[in-house]
Amino acid sequence: MRVHVADHPLITHKLTVLRNKETASPTFRALTEELVTLLAYEATRNVRVDPIDIVTPVGPTTGVTISQPRPLVVPILRAGLGMLEGMVKLVPTAEVGFLGMVRDEETLQPTTYAERLPDDLSNRQCFVLDPMLATGGSLIAAIEYLLERGAQDVTAVCILAAPEGLEAVKAATEGRDVTIVLGAVDERLDENGYIVPGLGDAGDRLYGTV
Ligand code: PRP
Ligand code: URA
Repeated sequence: MRVHVADHPLITHKLTVLRNKETASPTFRALTEELVTLLAYEATRNVRVDPIDIVTPVGPTTGVTISQPRPLVVPILRAGLGMLEGMVKLVPTAEVGFLGMVRDEETLQPTTYAERLPDDLSNRQCFVLDPMLATGGSLIAAIEYLLERGAQDVTAVCILAAPEGLEAVKAATEGRDVTIVLGAVDERLDENGYIVPGLGDAGDRLYGTV
């Protein structure tokens, strides 16, 4: 598994505003979108392209075009939905599939309650969107599911991760083609499975239930 922590002052600046508990939902949503676009630039570094011949007003040249099958972007509902616009802004031709997952706040085990993906994932490059990688349980389940369905490789875009969760994903995806692109790796998980210092409950902060 490859891990890339995006180290850029603009990302750290936007993350700081996102973490602040005084930041209200409308700003939180807008900043999440902006942050994801910056992370998506890094996450798509290995997107597959094919050569294409074109003619400019001055003459012929060869460029590249994104390969078929198109990349598949998979936001994990609910909080991952807040990352979708930021991602497709950069890759507008991507196809979008959905996984609905929720973790039990007592056991911290994830359950999948919805799935809407193309039937055939073979040769697909998949980009999973989930802002919080806490214990890693949700992301591991999502990655395993996509790889079992034939995905060629999986890149996860997360805003924050706990070191414990990152280690868990690493152990679970040993030998598989998995990349994680992150805004920051925080200190630890607390006794309730929340990332410290983190930003709280991403879904609640995005959708105004706090
Ligand atoms: C949050 C978050 C991740 C998951 C991370 O979702 O968006 O999906 O928790 O935790 P884990 O790494 O320990 O599995 P949540 O279950 O709160 O659902 P929501 O997005 O609907 O709020
Ligand atoms: N899910 C969240 O939204 N935040 C955390 O800190 C952990 C899991």
